[in-house]
Amino acid sequence: MKIDVLTLFPDMYQGFLTESIMKRAIDKKAVTIEFHNIRSYSKDPHHKVDDSPYGGGHGMVLMCQPIFDAIEDLRTKESKVIMLTPDGVPYNQEIVYDLSHEKHLILLCGHYEGFDERIRSIVDMEISIGDYVLTGGEVPSMVLMDSIIRLLPGVIEEESHINDSFHEHLLDYPTYTKPQNFRGMEVPAVLCNGNHQEIMAYREEMRYNRTKERRPDLLEK
Ligand code: ADE
Repeated sequence: MKIDVLTLFPDMYQGFLTESIMKRAIDKKAVTIEFHNIRSYSKDPHHKVDDSPYGGGHGMVLMCQPIFDAIEDLRTKESKVIMLTPDGVPYNQEIVYDLSHEKHLILLCGHYEGFDERIRSIVDMEISIGDYVLTGGEVPSMVLMDSIIRLLPGVIEEESHINDSFHEHLLDYPTYTKPQNFRGMEVPAVLCNGNHQEIMAYREEMRYNRTKERRPDLLEK
């Protein structure tokens, strides 16, 4: 997979891509990620990328020209252009699975008071990572990259995906490690008896119970 990130703050991604599973995915060439500073596409003599809103109001709005030029430069027939915005469709694991099969993602990160409305006409999809407002699309774009890249072939063991929370609209089952008794809290005996069938049945039941208790909305799916 190829991911192009359009941002005003490429340095924010330091650390995110140089540690742990993201680093491993890049080293293994499961994904290639490139950052493009929106400012470098500005045709303004002072590399201006934003201006005050028509009709008045506070804050600055990202202008069409640099963003249209950037997307037109990077886009191919195989690209999916995604705008990160609190007005987008709520992100979930189903969208993660779908996007993990794309060949090329272009992630458009805003900042300030948002985008000129006309920019929406050239994106394929608008995504929100939740009902709260962040200072920009950079952290949401990291959320997308992390959730998608971990599903790419060879990045983590395929079996881990099957046990993911939200797989089959269920939360994950509880897990334990040594010691068997910690401060009086015991690991459930069924997990220590070595009977695989019983363990699997127990885990399925726990996934269902936990989902019913914490996220009954998921069971409706
Ligand atoms: N930009 C600012 N807030 C956001 C959110 N919740 N999701 C996606 N992009 C955003």
